[in-house]
Amino acid sequence: MSDKISVGLFGFGCVGQGLYDVLNHSQVLEASIEKICVKDQNKERKIDMSNFTFNHEDILSRKDLNVVVELIDDANEGFKIVSRAMNNGVNVVSANKKMLAENFEQLYELQKKNKVALLYEGSAGGSIPIIRNLEEYYDNELLDHIEGILNGSSNYITTKMEVDNLSYEEALGLAQENGFAESDPWLDVAGFDSKYKLCLLTIHAFGIILKPDQILNLGIQNISFDDILYAKQKDARIKLVAKGYKSGDKIRVYVLPQFVKRGKPLYNIMYEYNAVEVEGAYSDRQTLAGKGAGSYPTGSAVLSDVSALTYGYKYGYKKLEKMIRNGNGNGHYDPSSMLDTNFELKVYVRYNDRSSLDDLEIVSIEEEYKSPHSNYIVANVKFNSLFNLYNKREKDLFVCVVPEE
Ligand SMILES: NC(=O)c1ccc[n+]([C@@H]2O[C@H](COP(=O)([O-])OP(=O)(O)OC[C@H]3O[C@@H](n4cnc5c(N)ncnc54)[C@H](OP(=O)(O)O)[C@@H]3O)[C@@H](O)[C@H]2O)c1
Repeated sequence: MSDKISVGLFGFGCVGQGLYDVLNHSQVLEASIEKICVKDQNKERKIDMSNFTFNHEDILSRKDLNVVVELIDDANEGFKIVSRAMNNGVNVVSANKKMLAENFEQLYELQKKNKVALLYEGSAGGSIPIIRNLEEYYDNELLDHIEGILNGSSNYITTKMEVDNLSYEEALGLAQENGFAESDPWLDVAGFDSKYKLCLLTIHAFGIILKPDQILNLGIQNISFDDILYAKQKDARIKLVAKGYKSGDKIRVYVLPQFVKRGKPLYNIMYEYNAVEVEGAYSDRQTLAGKGAGSYPTGSAVLSDVSALTYGYKYGYKKLEKMIRNGNGNGHYDPSSMLDTNFELKVYVRYNDRSSLDDLEIVSIEEEYKSPHSNYIVANVKFNSLFNLYNKREKDLFVCVVPEE
């Protein structure tokens, strides 16, 4: 690829504008944004209108652009743009984790078929360089465990509730004002955003492609002050944690709120900050932390990908390719059979109406509290039964993992 990079940019929202600014301040990278495609013809823009188009073809059919950067908030349109660009032989950078997670198998095939690069460091962990690290630094390490706070808005909300005594609604409003929340905040607070990122990390950490629907996510949308108070009494904080870890020859993956005890690396990750803990058989535990969302932190991760293209960087997918080659020990690669959902998990469940616990398969109750104001149990439940609570918007239940010491 030539040293001079000519970029066709899709999206000029929070991240697109961040990329535009950080690129213009870059001292080293010789790159220019030649055209920007957006959607809304009536929106005011902070740069001259001659930079913009509303027609995808004005970028996709140009032969002089050598990188397409896709930063839009629509997964279906994003997939069309990214696959068209790759089929045209153009390298692509994206931060659209929903699009990437939902279409990963096809995107992986398109990279191989067209011999192009698709880079997406900004899609998981914002400014934290985790994907390239999992791919390159931990390429020979036997990774056992990866967990992290991957959603800036949820972490911002739980922090604001705990530190400033804000209500859930006030804290969510502030997260939106500051540009940390997705256009649809349900994706953040219900754990979908973290799950899309976890899908991508699972590929680079373990070489396993999972569909988002295979991964359980319950969020913080029903959290109350009672829960935060309970956590404080236990010297812990509530964090929305995305986790993947090996159990025998299978892996367990989920996104759930979790009590994080003082002294644990994730305890001090506050506001919009994200962090990822990685544990390998030989390297032991390491934590990478940084701003997980926002215009400039994400824009700078996208810029780092654009820069990596100048020296021909592509993800090698070493672990994935090894898994595909070896299969599940029988030469057949079947990621779903590598997933363990049949185990017990200790959880705190706050509820209003006890009948809402009927959805859970409770194995044993360790603690129970009832009052006219609030009720909770701490119980070992069958993990599979938590899927019964999936994607429900009712305010009745809040579930939080109680980790073993
Ligand atoms: N915000 C973050 O901190 C963050 C962090 C990591 C990853 N991401 C990901 O980055 C992507 C962009 O996020 P954002 O926060 O920048 O979103 P945003 O502020 O809502 O901006 C979205 C942009 O996409 C454009 N767009 C939407 N549909 C389009 C279409 N069909 N064709 C062309 N342009 C279209 C919009 O055009 P108009 O301007 O005309 O409305 C807008 O400029 C998303 O996939 C998000 O998940 C965001």
